[in-house]
Amino acid sequence: MPTHDQDLYSKVQLAVEHLKKIFRWAEPQKPRLAVILGSGLGDFAETLQTSRRIPFSDVPHFPLSSVTGHLGHLILGRSGETWLICLQGRAHFYEGYEMSAVTFPVRVLGALGVKRLIVTNAAGSINRRFRPGDLLLLSDHISSFIPNPLVGPNLEGLGPRFPDMSECYSLRLRQVAQRCAQKLKFTLREGVYVSLTGPSYESPAEIQMLRKLGADAVGMSTVPEVIVARHMGMECLGLSLITNLAAGISQVPLSHQEVLDAGKRMKPKLVKFLVLLNQEISKLE
Ligand code: HPA
Repeated sequence: MPTHDQDLYSKVQLAVEHLKKIFRWAEPQKPRLAVILGSGLGDFAETLQTSRRIPFSDVPHFPLSSVTGHLGHLILGRSGETWLICLQGRAHFYEGYEMSAVTFPVRVLGALGVKRLIVTNAAGSINRRFRPGDLLLLSDHISSFIPNPLVGPNLEGLGPRFPDMSECYSLRLRQVAQRCAQKLKFTLREGVYVSLTGPSYESPAEIQMLRKLGADAVGMSTVPEVIVARHMGMECLGLSLITNLAAGISQVPLSHQEVLDAGKRMKPKLVKFLVLLNQEISKLE
């Protein structure tokens, strides 16, 4: 077996031991739920009670994001009665990280005993019915344009060689999310997210192609994390904040600033939604 497999095991173990020590992990605090907060979406973590926060740079082998809007903190805290872990920010493949590094935090969450993962991101809309400011619940994804993070020898202790991907985004979690949106009286869109490597935005011709392939929204993250989470048997929920119309659908050039600004405007709605969502998810078995 190539040595990097053993490396992954021991790196995950090292990060887990470190976090358990820092957080003086006790059984009641053991979080079953984690949330990854994407570009400009980190505010939900501020709503947590009795929280402890550490920078990613303090966790052994955690990749550091160089992107504006990605804070790079791991937070353990309580939302109501539920303990959860928030990752404020993430590393991306386009920053030059291997897929194994991009997905390393998810491996660590799994090894810590996290069973459910909410993954958020900023995305461009391909579906012409969507508008900037909409929240999109991922019903499925297209991963065919990025390297699969499970390529390489399989670590049987982490998951199966050929993991099923027929329900990447849990149907029952999606139903809970739709009920929460109804309670908060907003329309939660639902659709297919396609992940590309970036960092350049798409060309209008690429957006036309992606539309024909069945994608509703496009972004540069999330899918590797969800593939790895599903490999480890976690139940996932994906949320995109639509920050812009995709290239060619919009008549103006795209910019990261536009993505961050839309994230800022939508924060209160997203934060409220995540608080309720966590409450409702924690009631599930
Ligand atoms: N394309 C790719 N990634 C994105 C976009 C987009 O239009 N908006 C936010 N992230």
